Amino acid sequence: MADSPNHPIRTIAIDGPAGAGKSTIGLGLAKHLGFLYFDTGVMYRAVTLAALQRSIAPDDEDAVSQLAESLRIEVSPPHVDDGRQYTVRTDGEDVTWAIRRADVDAAVSVVSAFPRVRRAMVAQQRRIAQAGNVVMVGRDIGTVVMPDADLKIYLDATVEARAWRRYRELEARGTPSSYADVLASMKQRDVLDTSRATSPLRPANDAFIVDCTHMDAEETLAHVIALVEAQNAARAGAQARSAVATGAPEDDA
Ligand code: DC
Repeated sequence: MADSPNHPIRTIAIDGPAGAGKSTIGLGLAKHLGFLYFDTGVMYRAVTLAALQRSIAPDDEDAVSQLAESLRIEVSPPHVDDGRQYTVRTDGEDVTWAIRRADVDAAVSVVSAFPRVRRAMVAQQRRIAQAGNVVMVGRDIGTVVMPDADLKIYLDATVEARAWRRYRELEARGTPSSYADVLASMKQRDVLDTSRATSPLRPANDAFIVDCTHMDAEETLAHVIALVEAQNAARAGAQARSAVATGAPEDDA
């Protein structure tokens, strides 16, 4: 990935808890930069849905792990104009909306804690990251999947703010739930995501922490774009200084 700190940013990791707005900000940033956007959460959701569809209990570690190792998960640009950010297929079936179901929400933290499931998903994610020009979103991107990412952002907000946003999203999608239920499930996912033994959710040491509790999506995106621009300017400055020091021509890559 990063072979020199002087080239413009090519790989961006965005991590953070559920409902912090990672996908909205990640997609907006990727569009702004002309980068590929990849939301790794869909892969864990796809495995969870496939287990439920096959009547495999989500806590059956062996069976779920075997399924994760054999399931063909494809994430591609949207093939239907129905508000989706991408199309997700498992073994050829379009599961883009089904992976957002409440039963998937309830079981995905259990499934994503299994080490063999994580190993299978991380291997695929690293292959995608290697191509560069990517904004990858998840829980362990800056710590495990792309530890050398050029820029790491940890997007955070209070659990109440995140639950409120998720509640409004569900309402807008016509699948309302009570705010109290959404808050309880968000708190439970926070506990599971941060306390699991393998790759728990935590900011990388070199991540920029962005607390968006009091920012809307537009403000958060503007903040993150400004962060990328500031980092790119610092990199260009460092490159110019090292070119002057060595007498080498500047690399405009
Ligand atoms: O971001 P999301 O809500 O779609 O993620 C679904 C679940 O997958 C969430 O409980 C945490 C897990 N996940 C993970 O463990 N590692 C990732 N890189 C992405 C998601």
